[in-house]
Amino acid sequence: MSSITIGEVLKAIDSFSPFVYAYDWDNCGLIIGSPEQKVEKIAVSLDLNMKSLEIAVEKRCDCIVTHHPLLFNPIKQIDLSSHVGKIIDKVIKTGINVIAAHTNWDVSPEGGNRFLASKLGLAKVEPISLARHGLPAPSWDGVLGRLEVPLDLEAFAEDVKRKGKFSWVKYYGRTSKVTTVALCEGSGGDLWKEALKAGACVFVTAELKHHQVQEALEAGLSLIEVSHAQMEDLTMEALAEKIKGTTGLDVVLISGSFEECKLI
Ligand SMILES: [Fe+2]
Repeated sequence: MSSITIGEVLKAIDSFSPFVYAYDWDNCGLIIGSPEQKVEKIAVSLDLNMKSLEIAVEKRCDCIVTHHPLLFNPIKQIDLSSHVGKIIDKVIKTGINVIAAHTNWDVSPEGGNRFLASKLGLAKVEPISLARHGLPAPSWDGVLGRLEVPLDLEAFAEDVKRKGKFSWVKYYGRTSKVTTVALCEGSGGDLWKEALKAGACVFVTAELKHHQVQEALEAGLSLIEVSHAQMEDLTMEALAEKIKGTTGLDVVLISGSFEECKLI
């Protein structure tokens, strides 16, 4: 079985989803492990929790790439009885290496936002970019795309639910003819003004706040809200494919490693 080092895995991820695209507040790259360590098999998961970690260990992966970084805020102690402490303990004991591909994955030109747009069938996609310096190309902080066949809002919301295999979708507004759609992976509520400015009639994202909904509707933008975890988990299949293609290693996709809410 072929092997490469963790340093080479990081370089491979950087080749299709450069870490320079990560937001300043983020924590991407090597989270736990060593760049010199040899890797033969990589797991890909939305989150690092006991469930995904156990699957990765059971499948004999020596590296797990997660979307959400296990360590995000600075820590001053590692309490091995805490949720994160127990995970760190198991990571160290099993010798698995942990890498995060978070906002660098969301917003790089071939990353999660772009993939979601194609998954939802948007055509003629273009980036919605926040003004940021030092990037090799405009970032895809959001995506603007078009529908081949215009739909009314409810029909489009149903289409989003079906194409994304989402267990629920909320929609706000009354657009009778949806032609242009903006999209942002994860909690993208802050991007609604840019979406409107770019010409969208509907903005698809997760975790919208009450005031964002009210202001956007007032301004004439309809909204579709889906589950944060389900939306991002959908893109893990593309992340896994890209890691497989650039490393040449075996890659195990761990889908659905999170708890989704139950609606009553
Ligand atoms: Fe997220």
